[in-house]
Amino acid sequence: MIPVSKPSMGNEELEAVGKVFQTGWLGLGSTVFDFENILKDYLGVKNVIAVNTGTSAIHIALDAFGISAGDEVIVPTMTFAATIQAILATGAVPVFCEINSDTLNVDVADIEKRITAKTKAIIPVHYCGQACDMDELLAIARPKGIKIIEDAAHAFGSSYKGKKIGSLGDAACFSFDPIKTITCGEGGAVTLNDDEIAEKIRRKRILGIDKDTWHRYRNERTWFYQVTDIGYRYHMSNINAAIGIEQFKKIDKFIERKREITMRYDKEFRTLPGIKVLSNNYAETAQFCYILRVENGRDELMNFLKTKGVGSGVHYIPNHIQPVFKKFSPDALPITDKMAEQIITLPLYYDMTDSDVELVLNSVKEFFNAKS
Ligand SMILES: Cc1ncc(COP(=O)(O)O)c(C=O)c1O
Repeated sequence: MIPVSKPSMGNEELEAVGKVFQTGWLGLGSTVFDFENILKDYLGVKNVIAVNTGTSAIHIALDAFGISAGDEVIVPTMTFAATIQAILATGAVPVFCEINSDTLNVDVADIEKRITAKTKAIIPVHYCGQACDMDELLAIARPKGIKIIEDAAHAFGSSYKGKKIGSLGDAACFSFDPIKTITCGEGGAVTLNDDEIAEKIRRKRILGIDKDTWHRYRNERTWFYQVTDIGYRYHMSNINAAIGIEQFKKIDKFIERKREITMRYDKEFRTLPGIKVLSNNYAETAQFCYILRVENGRDELMNFLKTKGVGSGVHYIPNHIQPVFKKFSPDALPITDKMAEQIITLPLYYDMTDSDVELVLNSVKEFFNAKS
């Protein structure tokens, strides 16, 4: 079965992990700081704080900006459950918004309608790696003091109007889980230009321990530390950072191959009736996954593909219909509901061979030709 996604790992990653073993320092240390510096240069942002997952990146960023009980955070329901759980972990309430059917990115006009006096943050999700309209979002958020915390889990390596995603909003949150553009095994990062909030996040990722105090007393009392913030055990380990550093060396070829496959899929699928290809900014998008819209018979197609040895998925089942999140969904979300019935995720990963790609293409074509 051709999977929907798969990490591309080699001996380089294994050897890098071996070197960390030899140092005997497995947790937060110099390899994590090296990884952060690499990301800082690549993204052109002042601060990168590496954490253990993309979910904790979103939670800690919201928390550091003071989002808490009584606040509302506007978020698309069409996202991974991680985004919603991160909001709820702060005590704030998610307010679900609509998406555009041509990109699956947030509908900014719909967001504007949902802003209340309690709205403290908006979380745009850069779907499949394609950037949301950040200019429009900032234009509605900035005058009201609303923070834009980007869920950039899909978008490491993508740009918006020539600028890398990572320093456009108040903070961007990346994921380096096993199937992301680059992986650390598991990992995440918060990136931002605000030095003060960045310092807060650095403390919060390691149980609120104030490293300045730690440094100040280092010469006299090395054992001394102070806990100055509410914090979490969210830091990245040297083991995960070592994997990330090796993966980063391969990012250009990862992005290029996935872009090539995406363009091939788009070109062929555009000719099929009953299918809608998402609109895609190839030049600026580091494509994370490949999603098609099937106007009728999505589930049938999934079953058919299975018989052909082609895996498929649905990204995502919207959160406003999930049992635990239902209570946060007072309004109808007709576009999202329609998309939820149409979207199918097809295989897309760096190590896909040309014959894997052909099998996916031919299987989808066979299904639609048999229907017409
Ligand atoms: C849109 C989105 N947000 C957040 C996350 C959370 O990232 P992680 O799995 O690293 O916790 C994911 C992961 O798949 C995601 O797809």
